[in-house]
Amino acid sequence: MQAIVLHQTGNKNNYADLFSIKEVPAPGISDDEVLIKIFNASLNHRDLWIAEGAYSKIKLPVILGSDGAGIIYEKGKNVNNFSTGDKVIIYPCSNWGSNENFQNRNFEILGMPADGAFAEYLKVHSSAVFKFPEHLDFIQASAFPLAGLTAYRSLFVKAEIKNTDNVLITGTGGGVASFALMFALIAGAKVFVTSGSDDKIKKAVSLGAEGGVNYKSADWINELKDITENKIDIVIDGSGGKYFSGYVDLCSYGARIVSYGATLGAAGKLDLHKVYWKQLKILGSTMGTVSDFINMLEFADTNKSIPIIDKVFPFKEYLKAFDRMKDSEQFGKIVLEFAK
Ligand SMILES: NC(=O)c1ccc[n+]([C@@H]2O[C@H](COP(=O)([O-])OP(=O)(O)OC[C@H]3O[C@@H](n4cnc5c(N)ncnc54)[C@H](OP(=O)(O)O)[C@@H]3O)[C@@H](O)[C@H]2O)c1
Repeated sequence: MQAIVLHQTGNKNNYADLFSIKEVPAPGISDDEVLIKIFNASLNHRDLWIAEGAYSKIKLPVILGSDGAGIIYEKGKNVNNFSTGDKVIIYPCSNWGSNENFQNRNFEILGMPADGAFAEYLKVHSSAVFKFPEHLDFIQASAFPLAGLTAYRSLFVKAEIKNTDNVLITGTGGGVASFALMFALIAGAKVFVTSGSDDKIKKAVSLGAEGGVNYKSADWINELKDITENKIDIVIDGSGGKYFSGYVDLCSYGARIVSYGATLGAAGKLDLHKVYWKQLKILGSTMGTVSDFINMLEFADTNKSIPIIDKVFPFKEYLKAFDRMKDSEQFGKIVLEFAK
């Protein structure tokens, strides 16, 4: 099979030195596993962090990719709940453990250390495989797992969103943020966004957001205070950095800030007086349990949710796809396409 193989980590300005397309043997499966023929796989920022060597314990060579959609091509003899040809996606976590509130120490994400979905075939344990809602095509289905799960848990499990909430979603163009936008709108909340691109703010408004502010503006905090009329009940943030203290400033009494990522690194100075006086909840969230995943798929099915797809690239053009994400050009999920 053909696979996009990461053989070394290094400089983000030259992914071509780090990856190559290789002919490798398709994985063999055990009795409890299935072999999935991947039709589409979507990118997550995690793939870039790994290529750049930003994670510990990186195992090389490896096939990245936490999100894939395809069909069951072969199944082990103990697998009774699927037939070959079933259209499926994959729950991208393993070893979550028994506590719903947080994952085990040996928790893993598909696509490093185990080989992932940037290949024509992928083997996984059958318990991680799910049929996807029928209204989705393979491209849309491949967008869901990691980003959708992260957004779903952040909004529904952690922030406990209600339809009376004003929700701020930061960096709306990102994969997780675009799912958070979609889910929060379906939940009936009023949604506000930030972005580094005025065009992306316009797009978020065209999708149903009330308004947005460009975080590159020197006065972004006051601009957000104006458009939200000083009411922000939930912040869903994956960027962190110096902006984080601004979210504490902006939050209404009793608000919840969910942090699912730190693209910009450590938070700036936090005014703890505001944290305790306003009785804020600052909540961390990472991906989700298998129950969260099932609930997300049911939610998507009930509401006929269609994820925001930025662009689809033939898998051989993976470098263009990675560069698009590196340069924050996307609005929504970037998807690779393999031969059907
Ligand atoms: N904890 C978890 O389970 C989990 C799961 C998924 C992702 N993450 C982490 O969350 C982050 C986002 O992941 P992703 O896959 O959604 O990445 P992505 O698709 O590459 O999105 C990143 C987005 O960050 C936004 N951004 C850049 N500077 C910003 C700023 N100053 N303020 C607000 N937003 C800013 C940009 O939005 P605009 O283009 O709109 O400016 C960009 O599109 C990454 O750090 C990732 O590692 C964590």
